[in-house]
Amino acid sequence: MARYLITGIAGFIGSTLAHTLVEQGHDVRGIDNLSTGSLDNLAGIRDKIDFQQMGLQDVAGMKSACEGIDFILHQAALASVPRSVKDPLTSHQSNIDGTLNLLLAARDAKVRRIVYAASSSAYGDQPMQPKQEDMSPLPLSPYAVQKLACEYYIQAFYRTYGLEGICLRYFNIFGPRQAADSPYSGVIAKFTTMMMAGETPTIFGDGLTSRDFNFVDNAVSANLLACLAPSSVATGRVFNIGTGRSHTLNEVYATIAEQLGFTAAPFYGPTRAGDIRHSLADIHRASKELGYHPKAHFHEGLQKTVAWYLAEKEKKAASTL
Ligand code: UD1
Repeated sequence: MARYLITGIAGFIGSTLAHTLVEQGHDVRGIDNLSTGSLDNLAGIRDKIDFQQMGLQDVAGMKSACEGIDFILHQAALASVPRSVKDPLTSHQSNIDGTLNLLLAARDAKVRRIVYAASSSAYGDQPMQPKQEDMSPLPLSPYAVQKLACEYYIQAFYRTYGLEGICLRYFNIFGPRQAADSPYSGVIAKFTTMMMAGETPTIFGDGLTSRDFNFVDNAVSANLLACLAPSSVATGRVFNIGTGRSHTLNEVYATIAEQLGFTAAPFYGPTRAGDIRHSLADIHRASKELGYHPKAHFHEGLQKTVAWYLAEKEKKAASTL
């Protein structure tokens, strides 16, 4: 039984990882500053994990959080490209300074390995598709720069201090528990909850922008595989965690609308600053070296996601009766 530290445990991906690890009987410690995460996401496992409310900037807190830990699954971040465009300094402090604090504490506590939630945004508008890990990164937004900088930090910590690390470049992860209540929410969470409320979402651009939307269960399996991978791949190497298929925003809109019986056509607005046009993962490296095979497909993932938001809405309605 391994001991895990999940940063950002009350967030969307962190909490999904926590539920899985607890089910598997592992020891889970988690930290979160609750700035964007919610304790609701830990319902059912709150008493089975060691949760501490703290941010990555808390140097003494990081030290104690890393003590006795085998694997860190580092999910905490101030996510969102547009948030970083609006306020680059705050997301820099959280994403880069916070990660450096964590790495220093992990090094000193002799943690076995850190698995890092990197981002496909690092590729920027690299014209070649699909994106391969050895392409030169071309980050467009402050968020992309921050996520990429932390990959380099992880590589430097392996080379200089021997701390094992694996960087998982997530490609637009979606699924249950993804926050939907912020202007910075992911597009699937936002479209689903808006349509459920009878509001018509806006597609930024012409609707032909595409993403490799990846269901959260696939990201969870990638993290677990990254912990099990041999030390020879934990040298700060980077892996694409997508599906190898992409879908346009028009397609996303139409699929969610169909599932909800929502009939209004979308509004179209200007393209968002910092957005990239197309994003599609080549997942051969992750498949060969980590044994990563995304089992959950887009449509099935979307069905589960829409069903979850509907069930949550019912739960909330029942609790206010
Ligand atoms: C980016 C990263 C992703 C990262 C995420 C963190 C890329 C390719 N992906 O996702 O790896 O995890 O940031 O936040 O850079 N959109 C609309 N209407 C809306 C909201 C969004 O049309 O109301 C559009 C956006 O303009 C974008 C697409 O939907 O074209 C996806 O947006 P979003 O879900 O925010 O994710 P990315 O910014 O692509």
